[in-house]
Amino acid sequence: MSLMNKHGILERHSMLLLVGILIVVAIGGMVEIIPLFYLKSTIEKVEGMRPYTPLELAGRNIYIREGCYLCHSQMIRPMRDEIERYGHYSLAAESMYDHPFQWGSKRTGPDLARVGNKYSDLWHVNHLTDPRSVVPESVMPGYPFLAKTDLKVPDISADLKVNRIVGVPYTDEQIANAKADMMAQANPDDDNVDDFLDRYTQTLGEEDREPTIRDFDGNPDRVTEMDALVAYLQMLGTLVDFSIYDDKADLR
Ligand code: HEC
Repeated sequence: MSLMNKHGILERHSMLLLVGILIVVAIGGMVEIIPLFYLKSTIEKVEGMRPYTPLELAGRNIYIREGCYLCHSQMIRPMRDEIERYGHYSLAAESMYDHPFQWGSKRTGPDLARVGNKYSDLWHVNHLTDPRSVVPESVMPGYPFLAKTDLKVPDISADLKVNRIVGVPYTDEQIANAKADMMAQANPDDDNVDDFLDRYTQTLGEEDREPTIRDFDGNPDRVTEMDALVAYLQMLGTLVDFSIYDDKADLR
């Protein structure tokens, strides 16, 4: 019997065919999945990514709490129209410290992956308080309570700790001082500013890159939820210096 005739046996017996299909699919699946267990990481490291500061993390939690991700994505696709509008397409490494990631699935509003430094803090405060005061045709809801609500995080150290469990490399010192660091970043006059900078400044080649310390909400008397959310938005997309990567990127 030739091999072709044997194939006929499979075609006439559906159970045999099913078993055959399962074997073939299982082999295909193993070839794709098993190598992933032996890779240390599927994400290519890029210079500049650092764990979020406690204030940025608190802002990110507010972003999730308020459901901003329901209208905004944070993932620029490698297509020309996206790149021309939003900037360099997103790299996997840019969401490596996002647990859970904020890629989103709907764009009622624009992508926010590179919104950092696009507007002033004041623009963000006005926009979040009353979007139509700066963008008359906006359909975004206002969040006026953010600027009126003190930033109260029961235990920001716990947030850092949980992130460390899932792989964000926070140090013991960063975890222990999270609360003080959170308050310091929103107040340039805070006594802990220098310690905060020591803990979060990264050295990239010759250059020291410090996280931004500002009174983000424009109200020096208190640290509010607005401080945290604006700190988070102003950081988005600013960590990786794309002037280094542009040469390599074929789409720019
Ligand atoms: C119902 C959908 C909706 C929700 C929810 C929403 N937005 Fe928006 N957002 C929009 C729309 C539409 C725009 C474009 C018009 C404008 O600028 O207001 C926008 C614009 C923005 C912009 C300006 C982006 C740019 O590049 O010009 C920022 C920043 C922003 N939103 C942040 C947020 C944050 C933070 C939250 C959560 C607190 C949020 N949005 C919730 C719809 C939404």
